[in-house]
Amino acid sequence: MRKEDLRDHAARALTRARERSTALTDAVDDEDLVRQHSKLMSPLVWDLAHIGSQEELWLVRDVGGREPLRPDIDDLYDAFQHPRADRPALPLLGPAEARAYVGEVRAKAFEVLERAPLEGRRLTDAAFAFGMITQHEQQHDETMLATHQLREGEPVLHAPAPPSRRGGPLPGEVHIPAGSFVMGTSVEPWALDNERPAHEVAVDAYFLDTTPVTNAAYIEFLEAGGYDQPRWWSEQGWAYRTAHDITAPRFWRREHDGWRRTRFGVDEPVPPRQPVVHVSYYEAEAYAAWAGKRLPTEAEWEKAARFDPATGESRRYPWGNDEPTAEHANLGQRHLSPAEAGAYPAGVSALGAHQLIGDVWEWTSTDFHGYPGFVAFPYREYSEVFFGPEYKVLRGGSFGTDAAAIRGTFRNWDYPIRRQIFAGFRCARDAGHV
Ligand SMILES: [Fe+2]
Repeated sequence: MRKEDLRDHAARALTRARERSTALTDAVDDEDLVRQHSKLMSPLVWDLAHIGSQEELWLVRDVGGREPLRPDIDDLYDAFQHPRADRPALPLLGPAEARAYVGEVRAKAFEVLERAPLEGRRLTDAAFAFGMITQHEQQHDETMLATHQLREGEPVLHAPAPPSRRGGPLPGEVHIPAGSFVMGTSVEPWALDNERPAHEVAVDAYFLDTTPVTNAAYIEFLEAGGYDQPRWWSEQGWAYRTAHDITAPRFWRREHDGWRRTRFGVDEPVPPRQPVVHVSYYEAEAYAAWAGKRLPTEAEWEKAARFDPATGESRRYPWGNDEPTAEHANLGQRHLSPAEAGAYPAGVSALGAHQLIGDVWEWTSTDFHGYPGFVAFPYREYSEVFFGPEYKVLRGGSFGTDAAAIRGTFRNWDYPIRRQIFAGFRCARDAGHV
C-alpha cells in the first residue's frame, strides 16, 4: 500500500473504532458509566479512559516522541496493576474528563499519523502501531458490549435482526483430509505477535461440524439431563458446574413454555437456529462428549478456516483474501446476536465449513501458547505472559468483533470458566484412515 493510502486506511480504522466506543458509552447516563455492572467487568468509564491511555503510550509518546499528556494517570489504567474487580474504587477520571482526555489523545495521534515515517522501525512499518491500537480499541468495545449484556435495565442498544438461513439444509459435518498446512502468518501487516510466524503443521483427517452448535441442538443436551451427568464432564468441568450450580447457558432460564433468554435487556424465547452463546469451555466440552465428539484443536479450526486444497495455500479468511463485508460474516455489532446457522453462504471456507468468522467465538481444546519461533512484540504483556495451561484459545470472532480485529489467524484466549464473552463452539471427531 502507498504511504498516503496507508495513512488514510489507518485513520479510517481509528475513526470507526472511536465511533463505536462513543456509541457504547453515550448509550447510558453518567451514573451507569461509573457503575460496575458485574465483578467480571470494569466500569465503562474505565475502558474508555484506558483506550485513551494505551493510545497515548504507543502512538503519542512512543511513535510520536511527544510529551506525556497525563503521566499522572498511567497507573490507574494499567490493566496489570488493577484487577477488574478493584477498578471502581480507583480515583478514575469522571465521564466528562474521560471523554475530553480520549479526544485530546486522538487529536495528537492523528498529528503523529500524518508525520510518522511508517518505515524503518518495526513498530511503524505498515503503520503497525496504529493497527495495534485500532484492534485494542475494538477489543475493548467488544468487552464494553459484554458489559452492556450484563447490565440490568431497559434496552439501550438497538440494531436490525441478523439474517436468516437461506437455502436447503447443510450437511452436519465436513471432512478434512489429512495433511499439513501453513498455520499463522509472517506477512499479515497488522497481525499480532501471537499469530506469528507462519509454520507448517501436520493434521490427521477429521470431521468438523459445518456450523457452530445451535441452540436447538444444545437444548437436546439440556433436556437429556446433560448438566446432571458427571460422565460427560471433565473433572475440573464438573467441579466448576457443581460449585456454581450451573444448569444452562448464562442468561437463560426455563419457563413453562420453554427456554427464554435475556439479550441486551430484551427478554425473548431462545431462537433455535442460532448458535448457542454464553457457554464456558467446560460446558462446550461436556456437550461434545455427550454428542460422541470432542472440541477441535486450534490447528484443526485454522485448517478448516484457511486451507485451500486447490492451491495448497492458506487464505486470510475462509472465503479468500478479501476483507470481510456484510455478505461474508456477522461482525462489527451490526446485529446484536449471532445469525442462524447457515446464514452466510458467501463466507463458506474452501473445505465447506460455515461461519468460522463472526457470530460466536469458538472454544478450541488448545491451551494458549507461542508458535515455534515466537518473539514477543512490542511487549511481553501483550501475549507471552498469558501462555500456559490456564487459558484456552478461542477463534473466529463474534457478532461483537469488528472486522479490524479478526482474521483467519487471529487468536483470542480466556479462562475455561468464562461465560460473559460471546463464545459458542463447534465439535470435531477423528476420521481415522478411510
Ligand atoms: Fe487493554
